[in-house]
Amino acid sequence: MQGVKICPSILSANFFNLKKDVYLLKKAGVDIIHLDVMDGHFVPNISFGDVILKSIASNSNMYVDVHLMVSNPLRHIEKFFLKNVLNITFHVECDDDILKCIAAVKNFGCSCGVAINPSTDVSKIKPYINFVDMVLVMTVNPGFAGQKFMPDMLKKVGLLRNFSPMLNIEVDGGVNNKNAGDISRAGANFLVAGSYVFKSGNILRAVKRLKRCCADA
Ligand code: DX5
Ligand code: ZN
Repeated sequence: MQGVKICPSILSANFFNLKKDVYLLKKAGVDIIHLDVMDGHFVPNISFGDVILKSIASNSNMYVDVHLMVSNPLRHIEKFFLKNVLNITFHVECDDDILKCIAAVKNFGCSCGVAINPSTDVSKIKPYINFVDMVLVMTVNPGFAGQKFMPDMLKKVGLLRNFSPMLNIEVDGGVNNKNAGDISRAGANFLVAGSYVFKSGNILRAVKRLKRCCADA
């Protein structure tokens, strides 16, 4: 698919030297960082929140794609109404009213995404597709970096792409150079990659490889 964006998830970055990792992403031509917010309730882990986001967004001038893995997005969404936040995504499996969450994000004025877990049927998301800008298809169970990509989830991507040619479709979890081509051919136009980008030993090369896989797809 043309115009695929690579969005590295900084969950796998080196937090002791985050500035260097963000600089290397910039050098690799990345302009969107994926920020995984976890509340220790919707998912077992706790990651980071708006304090880290503020620091990255204001110092790096990168755009931020916020992925809220939280049970109650309505409690948190406003904290992410910050400069350079391009998109805010919450889960269709959360405990809050989805239409209220969509309204809250739209009220801020940025792009709004809704995410779907591997075990959730794509029909659950269909009622909201016309109200959101993006659907995030999880290709691992949320909460942990470094898991194995679930290829079956690409069927969901295909269904969503057929349903709506204009929708932004993001794939998140286990993305690497071996599956990036299939993911973009299935119809996704935003690819999140954490471990592959930050643990491969060469951030620049990893981003370039992912871009090439998508361009060739
Ligand atoms: C998982 C997160 C992902 C994760 C991706 O809960 O939503 O964004 O950081 O990491 P990798 O690419 O290692 O699967
Ligand atoms: Zn994510």
